[in-house]
Amino acid sequence: MKLLKDRVTMITGASRGLGKALAVRFAGEGSKVVLAGRSYDAMNDICRAISGSGGEGSAVRMNVQDPESIRAAVDEAVELYGRIDILINNAGISMVSPSESLSYEDWNNAIGTNLTGVFFCCQAAARHMIDRGTGGCIINISSTFGKTPVPRRAAYCASKAGTDMITRVLAAEWAEKNIRVNAIAPGYLNTEFIQDLKRQGKLDTESLNRRIPQGRMGNVEEITGLALYMAGDEATYMTGSVVYIDGGWTAYGFV
Ligand SMILES: NC(=O)c1ccc[n+]([C@@H]2O[C@H](COP(=O)([O-])OP(=O)(O)OC[C@H]3O[C@@H](n4cnc5c(N)ncnc54)[C@H](O)[C@@H]3O)[C@@H](O)[C@H]2O)c1
Repeated sequence: MKLLKDRVTMITGASRGLGKALAVRFAGEGSKVVLAGRSYDAMNDICRAISGSGGEGSAVRMNVQDPESIRAAVDEAVELYGRIDILINNAGISMVSPSESLSYEDWNNAIGTNLTGVFFCCQAAARHMIDRGTGGCIINISSTFGKTPVPRRAAYCASKAGTDMITRVLAAEWAEKNIRVNAIAPGYLNTEFIQDLKRQGKLDTESLNRRIPQGRMGNVEEITGLALYMAGDEATYMTGSVVYIDGGWTAYGFV
């Protein structure tokens, strides 16, 4: 029995990394998936692979920094499949800089993508969920950096701490509309996001691994199962939760 048969899931930033893994996993569980992002060709390739495995998926263009583009993408998803049951706010960017030299533009870029973008995607999808009257589920991809202060990551940490807070606010506000809002806060995951930082010399993965209690970074496949649980029928009493999957990082209190 497929866990998400006939549901419609929209996933932002689904062209690679965690977003791609979520799209493939949700499609495998019977959900129609809408991959929303800027890398249209990459998302179409993923949709073709999903179709090849018997699933159903479509790509829509969306820049989460642009509220008009968010509204248009959500409308397009609703036009394609009639509704959105599940929204996963996954799109995100990293921002590493000494705080004394962090530019106004870089600060706004991180906050605009990781926090403002998440809020307006929640708003656009929730408007449809509320109009339809059957509720829905929102999952925000946060980070352990929303909890642990990390030097040279002021904008990124602030954006993820803000994401945790809007998760709780919206959960409380939209509970009466039957919309559940939760967040997953991963520790370091071995994705292109991390490979990019490594290439730029902004991350020493060997010393990092020594500081993670489990001694390694996580894989995206170790995150998708929790998203599936949060979206499914067994999590109907779960809302406003921020759940860490981090190899013991936050338990140990590392920075
Ligand atoms: N990789 C990690 O170690 C890690 C750890 C904790 C949290 N996260 C979070 O997980 C999420 C996914 O990370 P990932 O590692 O897969 O990163 P990634 O860089 O591989 O993927 C991010 C995706 O977001 C998209 N994106 C960026 N800006 C966008 C915009 N303005 N509009 C639309 N799409 C946009 C990118 O094109 C890409 O598809 C992010 O929110 C990130 O903060 C990642």
